Amino acid sequence: MIRRMTLSLALLLGMQALDAQAASEPIQPITPAKVKDAGLAELGKKLYFDTRLSKSGFISCNSCHNLSLGGTDNLKTSIGHNWQKGPINAPTVLNSSMNLAQFWDGRAKDLKAQAGGPIANPGEMAFTHELAVEVLQSIPGYVAEFKKVFGNDKVTIDEVTKAIAAFEETLVTPNSRFDKWLKGDKKALTKAELAGYALFKDSGCTGCHNGAAVGGNSFQKMGVVEAYKASSPAEGRVGVTKDEADRFNFKVPTLRNVELTYPYFHDGEAATLKQAVDTMGRIQLGRQFTDDENGKIVAFLKSLTGDQPNFKLPILPPSSDATPRPVP
Ligand code: HEM
Ligand code: HEM
Repeated sequence: MIRRMTLSLALLLGMQALDAQAASEPIQPITPAKVKDAGLAELGKKLYFDTRLSKSGFISCNSCHNLSLGGTDNLKTSIGHNWQKGPINAPTVLNSSMNLAQFWDGRAKDLKAQAGGPIANPGEMAFTHELAVEVLQSIPGYVAEFKKVFGNDKVTIDEVTKAIAAFEETLVTPNSRFDKWLKGDKKALTKAELAGYALFKDSGCTGCHNGAAVGGNSFQKMGVVEAYKASSPAEGRVGVTKDEADRFNFKVPTLRNVELTYPYFHDGEAATLKQAVDTMGRIQLGRQFTDDENGKIVAFLKSLTGDQPNFKLPILPPSSDATPRPVP
């Protein structure tokens, strides 16, 4: 009896030690998504892939946030309606539910507020909310599904953005090798990756890239020690707050799945992780990493790739004869 008690006490203490270790790290493991309303998320998934929400009938959310490519388009800046080149790099939608706000300058407070933006953005999907709703309302399969989920006959843009946001909330990527290591699997990382993590912490990267998303939770100056010469006209957070102190402050991007989300920075100017790490070291921390140090940090960053979204590609309900046709 006493033996058994000692054993469970030891186990309990062991678990506490493990929790304490995880809690003392600046990065926490990702918790898998809890789907609150499966029907709503399923509808959002369809809308996410539906090109009929764009003027050309050619562009969907997935065009620029391709879920086969880490939730990005792997372009410096996105290509929108009529082949327009956008002003800024498309961030990943993976784990975007963990961001303190959406967009590089944080101008949308959450995913629902964000989701209406691209549909009506002339440089992206170039549609209007009214036309998007008209298209959906003309598709019997959608009308039935909106009715099932929301209980009314009329589709609204509020419902559209709610559904897309609910789908995006499912796009979290747990179980990276780094998370396994955090949870106690000491064999999950190689020596080089662990050395990279130590460098990442000791050099001060975790001052800005921390928490479960390894970023996404603050706005920071791009170019703390040395100015950054961006190729994009974006001014950052000042556009939202009108406070000059926020000029060139950008949301610190998540580094989860960063192996997949090249090119890097808001202007997409860093083509490789090697380049991005070198630039960050120099302009944020005043530190020049050797090739060996850089390689170790990059190795650590690649251990942050988690389980990618895994679902059946949605089959979209067909248009009816009354559905407005795309405009070239
Ligand atoms: C930003 C979702 C369509 C390009 C974002 C963000 C989300 C998102 C969640 C913010 C991520 C973050 O700040 O970390 C969606 C959804 C779409 C959609 C749900 C469909 C309704 C598109 C399309 C394009 C695009 C079609 C390209 C033509 C971009 C760009 C940004 C962005 C360039 C960054 C803009 C900025 O920060 O100023 N999107 N997106 N998105 N998306 Fe999309
Ligand atoms: C962007 C890594 C230190 C703030 C990035 C990116 C990487 C990275 C790979 C590009 C992510 C992407 O575009 O998706 C590192 C490493 C660091 C470090 C390895 C340590 C050597 C810091 C520090 C700060 C910071 C200390 C805050 C003072 C930012 C910001 C961006 C960024 C604001 C976005 C900048 C922009 O695109 O304008 N970091 N980072 N980082 N990091 Fe760091």
